[in-house]
Amino acid sequence: MVMDPYNYRNDFPLCREGQKEKLIYFDNACMTLRPQQVIDRLVEYYTFHPGCGGRSLHRISSWVTENYEGARDTIAEFLKAPDRDGVIFTKNATEAINLVSHSFRFNRGDRVLGTDHEHNSNLVPWVQLMNKGVIRYEPVPSMDDNTFDIEKFKEMIPGTRLVSMVHVSNLDGTRIPEKEIVEISHDSGAIVMLDCAQSVPHLKMDMKGLDLDLMVFSGHKAMGPTGTGVLAGKPELINDLDPFIVGGDTVHETGYDRVEFLDPPKKFEAGLQHYSGFIALGTALEYLERVGMDDLHEHELILNRYATSKMKDMVRIMGPSRPEDRGGILPFQVRGLNPHDVAMMLDEIAGVEVRSGKHCVHSWFKGKGEDPSVRASFYLYNTKQEVDVLVDTLSTIIEDFT
Ligand SMILES: Cc1ncc(COP(=O)(O)O)c(C=O)c1O
Repeated sequence: MVMDPYNYRNDFPLCREGQKEKLIYFDNACMTLRPQQVIDRLVEYYTFHPGCGGRSLHRISSWVTENYEGARDTIAEFLKAPDRDGVIFTKNATEAINLVSHSFRFNRGDRVLGTDHEHNSNLVPWVQLMNKGVIRYEPVPSMDDNTFDIEKFKEMIPGTRLVSMVHVSNLDGTRIPEKEIVEISHDSGAIVMLDCAQSVPHLKMDMKGLDLDLMVFSGHKAMGPTGTGVLAGKPELINDLDPFIVGGDTVHETGYDRVEFLDPPKKFEAGLQHYSGFIALGTALEYLERVGMDDLHEHELILNRYATSKMKDMVRIMGPSRPEDRGGILPFQVRGLNPHDVAMMLDEIAGVEVRSGKHCVHSWFKGKGEDPSVRASFYLYNTKQEVDVLVDTLSTIIEDFT
């Protein structure tokens, strides 16, 4: 079914009619806007229930515990996670990956495979471990248009302990063939972790159906508050991770010379938590569930097809030429213009908000000898009319400055 963004725009304060500053928000791969329902949930916590979860026994605290753990159930259901206690709350996706890189019980010399276009969050932790002599890290080279080279992957998988790959790239929206990768990895005895920062907000997730071992995502890219991230995994793997950040709440019992840790998820959630954030993240995912992930994905494709067809002769579109292979992401370069200048002019002239630069994937730009890009990324509240403004403004910029 085709989704109508006008059914939702009123929920997003910046998209409401009559805004003083009319902005067109195309930086959704960085962070999405939040609907009023999510903002209200944060305010509800701070207004009526501003307490801690899990510790005190009074009614404020009981509300927090119930709603915080309720959010864990919602998030587990949204991901179709194998176990709600295997859903660990972190500060962001980066912290979730660091949890695994610090706590996974590697044997010296174990091999970890990534793609050649990982976000720094899923590259730096592995390069650090390699430089400490713990693991060997290798990127699987992509095809020329950045799509996944499954034959190359099959050649490289033997002897690999962990496959840690970006599910959908923030660079250009390319998606790896997750099912095949999990099957091939499991046949070879490797564990798979997917960086789903750019897939959970846009695609139906089914961890159980995929038989996925571990995954991470960011709340703020899925209409949740900043400071929310998730690591989810099979219980036996999550159980087997060593505690990462330790202290209050992670322990059952302590002495001056010994510690008895709690079971997951508590083992990994040290200190007082971002209660309002995760409660509101649950609300965000419920909202997405109501929109329907298939309809949302189709809407992003419609916008990307429309924008691609209008822009393909004006700019150099990067990554795969088919918008279907780029989801909701449109990366491009304007010949003769610096991408930061283009981004600032789009904002200045028409309030069009896009990202410019290397998008935290410096290794790919360096490896390919590519210049930085401008990135427009679409979400449920974006419209074809907004795409028209992007295209018209770009056309003016190109006419006036090249
Ligand atoms: C693919 C990908 N992975 C990881 C991250 C890092 O996410 P976070 O900011 O939640 O740590 C991002 C953020 O842009 C991303 O796009």
